[in-house]
Amino acid sequence: MRVGIDQIGFYTPNKYVDMVDLAHARQEDPDKYLIGIGQSQMSVADQTQDAVSMGINATQFYLKRIERQRVGLLIFGTESGVDQSKSASLFVKSALKLPPEVRTFEVKEACFGMTAGVMIARDYVRLHPHQTAIVIGSDIARYGVGSGGEVTQGAGSVSLLIAAEPRILAINEGHSAFSQDINDFWRPNGMATALVDGKYSTQVYLDFFTQTFKQYKKLKGWQTSDFTALAYHLPFTKMGLKANRLAVAGQAEVTKTRLEKNFTAAAQYGRTVGNIYTASLYLSLLSLLENKKLQPDNKIGLFSYGSGAMGEFYSGQVVSGYERQLDVVQDQKMLARRQRLTVAQYEQVFNNALLDPSDGLELTSDEQVGYWYFAGTKGQVRQYRQV
Ligand code: CAA
Repeated sequence: MRVGIDQIGFYTPNKYVDMVDLAHARQEDPDKYLIGIGQSQMSVADQTQDAVSMGINATQFYLKRIERQRVGLLIFGTESGVDQSKSASLFVKSALKLPPEVRTFEVKEACFGMTAGVMIARDYVRLHPHQTAIVIGSDIARYGVGSGGEVTQGAGSVSLLIAAEPRILAINEGHSAFSQDINDFWRPNGMATALVDGKYSTQVYLDFFTQTFKQYKKLKGWQTSDFTALAYHLPFTKMGLKANRLAVAGQAEVTKTRLEKNFTAAAQYGRTVGNIYTASLYLSLLSLLENKKLQPDNKIGLFSYGSGAMGEFYSGQVVSGYERQLDVVQDQKMLARRQRLTVAQYEQVFNNALLDPSDGLELTSDEQVGYWYFAGTKGQVRQYRQV
C-alpha cells in the first residue's frame, strides 16, 4: 500500500511588499534583495489573518473534494501559535465542521513542525488505511520593521491531505533525521518577533542538508542522479540555492542542469510569498508540481529544516495524473489578487498586526468572499468568521 499526499491547499494573505520598494526604503541596492537574498516580494498579513485563519483558508480549498467522515487525524504545525494552551487545530476543526471523532493537536519545532506532522500522519494512515489525515503548516515570519531579517519575512499556509493510494505524491519508505540543541533562531515567550543569527542559521542549515542527504542516499542505495528534483525549506531562496549547489557539485552535466532547472521551478512561489516557516518546504513542492511537467514515478527529494535545530530528508514519487488534483489557475490568482503596499503602508499594517485588538472589538476583513478571518476576541475567546 502506498501512502502520501493526496491533496494540497495553499493560502497567502491579500497584501504584499515589493522588494525593490523595500530596498529603496532601506538604502540598499535592489540586487542585494533580488539576487543576493533571492526574494522579489513578500506577503503581509494584516491584523485579521493569523495562523488559524490562514490554515482554514488553505484547507477549505480541497475540502469539497474529500470525504470529511474519513478524516481521523488533524495536525497543525506552527510557530505562530495563537494560544499557549489550546491547539490551533481545534479552531480549524470547528470552522470546517470536521467529525468530532477526529484526533487533533498542534506541533512545534520551528519550521520542522509540518514535516513532523506529515510523518505522524503517514504512520497513522499506514495503520488506518481507510482513514485520512490533514496536516496544516501555517505561519507569519516576523523579524520586525527595519531588522536584519526584514527582507526574509512572509505569511501563508499549506494544507495536505495524507491518504492511502495518494493521487499526488507517494512517500517512499525511510528518512534520515539529524538534530542538535543550538540557538540559531528562536522566539521567547511574550515576543511577537523572532530572534535570529542569520549567518549561523544558514551554515547549520547547509551542514544539516549535507548530513541528511548523504545518509539518505546511503540508506536507500541511491545516487544524486536518481532524483528528478530536490525541494527545500526556503526561508529565502538563496538559502536553498546554496544547498542545491552543494547537491549538484561534481555531478554530470545532465543531472546538474536538471536539478538546477527544477530548483528554479520549486523556488518560484517562495520567491514571491516569502518565508512561511513550517509550510515553506511544502510551498516549494507545490511550486515544483505546478511549474514543471513531471513524469509518473519521478523521485522528488524533500529537505526539511527547523531551527533549534532539526533536519530531515525524505522523498516521494510522483503519481500519474497528479496535475488533475492541482489548480494552477487558482493558486496563481491567489498570488495575483494581492494588493501592492507602499513601504509606509506595509510598516503600518505590520506593526498594527503585532498588537492584540482590545477585547470585544469586532474586526472586519477586506478579503474576498468565502475566505475566513480573525474577527477579534470576545471574553478573550478568539472569533473566526467567513467574509
Ligand atoms: N547584488 C547582488 N548580491 C548582493 C549585493 C548586490 N548588490 N549585495 C549583497 N549581495 C549578496 C551578498 O554577497 C550575500 O550573498 P551570499 O549569501 O551568497 O554571501 C547576500 O547578498 C546577503 O548579503 P549579506 O549577508 O550582507 O546580508 P545581510 O547581512 O543583510 O543578511 C540574511 C542577510 C542573513 C539573510 C538576513 O536577512 C537574515 O538574518 N535573515 C533571516 C535568516 C533566516 O531566515 N534564518 C532562519 C532560517 S531557518 C528558518 O526559517 C527558521 C525556522 O526554523 C523558523
